[in-house]
Amino acid sequence: MPPGQNSGMASRDFDRRLWWLDEVAHAGPEHLDADYVAGYDHKSPTEWAEEVAALRALGIDSTSTVVDIGPGTGTFARAIAPHVARVVAVDISQAMVARMQELGIEAVRAGFLTYEHAGARPDAVFTRNALHHLPDFWKAISLRRIAALLRPGGVFMLEGLVYSFEPGEASTTIADWLAAAPTLLTRASSHRQVAEAARIRVRAMRA
Ligand SMILES: C[S@@+](CC[C@H](N)C(=O)[O-])C[C@H]1O[C@@H](n2cnc3c(N)ncnc32)[C@H](O)[C@@H]1O
Repeated sequence: MPPGQNSGMASRDFDRRLWWLDEVAHAGPEHLDADYVAGYDHKSPTEWAEEVAALRALGIDSTSTVVDIGPGTGTFARAIAPHVARVVAVDISQAMVARMQELGIEAVRAGFLTYEHAGARPDAVFTRNALHHLPDFWKAISLRRIAALLRPGGVFMLEGLVYSFEPGEASTTIADWLAAAPTLLTRASSHRQVAEAARIRVRAMRA
């Protein structure tokens, strides 16, 4: 029987494989590379005090469950862990998940578009510098999934990267950016500094 003629979930799941986004293909090949992952913390040292303080100010405490989507090697998960009951770190990269599991983090291999949470609904979902991997349509689907995942009144904290120029300016802006890239990379010793050039933050969004 051709796909789509069956009724019920099995058929819908089969159909979805035909059109649902392949998140691995959009994850950035470096994030899938075990050698790159091994050097990730050295390349991108991160200070999470501001994010931890902001979540605590929003009511996240020792009873809370936090889900971090696109956690990389899990530095945020480790920073927030002493303050909460449970942290689940969800990454599409097997290499990132393996590294986090070595570090004792509860890490799940899944993506924005596939993660299914087990246990009490999260009090907070956190994501930094990961949602930009998805095309805009799929960002919207991801945000709807996160809203459905959170407990009512839960907190969503997003830090992401956005283009700060108009589409018509893309050729010149990106060419200029690439021309300056060696300088930028020398100056920018961390992801945070690079991200500050083009950053959007959404805080205190309640489900
Ligand atoms: C630039 S790193 C950011 C890591 C960390 N959040 C930070 O701010 O340092 C992006 C991470 O998102 C992961 N990623 C990419 N696409 C993803 C997706 N669709 N779902 C979940 N994780 C994804 C990558 O594997 C990588 O670990």
